[in-house]
Amino acid sequence: MGDTKADTSYSKVFKKAYDFTIADEIKAKGLYPYFKPLQATDGTIVNIEGREVIMAGSNNYLGLTNDPRTIEAAQRVIEVYGTGCTGSRYLNGTLDLHLELEQKLAEFMRKEACVLFSTGYQTNEGSIQIIADRNDIIYSDKDNHACIVVGTQVSNAKTIRYRHNDMDHLKSLLERSDPDAGKIIVTDGVFSMSGTLAKVPELAALAKEFGAGLYLDDAHAIGVVGEGGRGSASVFGLMDEVDLISGTFSKSFASLGGFIVGDRTVIEYIRHKSPAHIFSASMPPANVATVLKSLEILQEEPWRLERLEQISSYMRNELKNLGFNVWTSQTPIIPVVIGDMYSCFQFWKDLFEAGVYVNAVVPPAVPQGQALVRTSYMATHTDQHLDRILDAFRKVGIKHGIIDENGKSLINFG
Ligand SMILES: Cc1ncc(COP(=O)(O)O)c(C=O)c1O
Repeated sequence: MGDTKADTSYSKVFKKAYDFTIADEIKAKGLYPYFKPLQATDGTIVNIEGREVIMAGSNNYLGLTNDPRTIEAAQRVIEVYGTGCTGSRYLNGTLDLHLELEQKLAEFMRKEACVLFSTGYQTNEGSIQIIADRNDIIYSDKDNHACIVVGTQVSNAKTIRYRHNDMDHLKSLLERSDPDAGKIIVTDGVFSMSGTLAKVPELAALAKEFGAGLYLDDAHAIGVVGEGGRGSASVFGLMDEVDLISGTFSKSFASLGGFIVGDRTVIEYIRHKSPAHIFSASMPPANVATVLKSLEILQEEPWRLERLEQISSYMRNELKNLGFNVWTSQTPIIPVVIGDMYSCFQFWKDLFEAGVYVNAVVPPAVPQGQALVRTSYMATHTDQHLDRILDAFRKVGIKHGIIDENGKSLINFG
């Protein structure tokens, strides 16, 4: 089933592609929620397929992608540096802007040094690959982002995955490990699907006890949580206990790119050794200027983080009061668990038709039977936006038999 070519007309290597029919099947049912092209956006309101909907599924946490100041900053540097760097940082792709941003981020994160990468994905994949080598062991949370997983796969180190946020399991694995091996614990600081924080105090204590390094991927944490938006370690006042902290510019910083901060010696090693850094063109000037401006705004306008926090707890409580299961969310990422995959796609479609855009997340990204719609919020959402989102959830939730009129959950996820 699914082959559109005669069996003999393609190389066997492509069989898996011809066997991959699920996307077409979902499209045929009119339920496909992915790759929807945005025709226009001001950040909170987007135009998709000619329909204006409220964006409740982006990572534009501070609402800066359409801020006149970030736009102006990006435009201004294009006049000076042009549109692209056409080479890696190592050779012809370093601008004074890159150095300025590295210095400002190191200062902001209160670490000695910083190195930029061209995406957040490359930051983690490329740093983990090189920091853990033969004879080292990586302890990686089972729910870590794909770029961490790939980083562990391309590294020469042994990788041991511990149960999600399960500190007893991690401890038992550390106890059993070779005391002479170099060790590093790697975890998302905020988990991107559940919006849960890593247990930084326990992780830091275990890292100390077993002589392991500690690495946090704070893609959804920097510019979102912690003192001044310094991320997950800062939530617990433990910035000094974490060796390496990575971040991305594709979320709060309204751009594209990534970075990692830590001790100068370790950062210089990554800078000179990571293939993802050395063999990939550097961040274009407009992207860097956007981040510089966003970092400035983050520090000058603390109301954005305060508003984000206020919106997060409001939405978490209101969705719970409606009867929804918001899993273990502690941040502006608030999932709503729906159940099986097709119900989730239908729920997504009904929400879209009710004027709200969210993200449908299905297995293997989440456990079987726990497909969810992931909502996430921006400091620039107005109270009216939030109420319209809640109203749509209430109507669609009742229609799907997930909640009742009285805020009671009608499904049991076990
Ligand atoms: C936890 C986490 N780390 C890293 C990344 C990769 O970041 P980028 O989109 O900047 O490549 C993401 C992006 O979704 C993420 O959620």
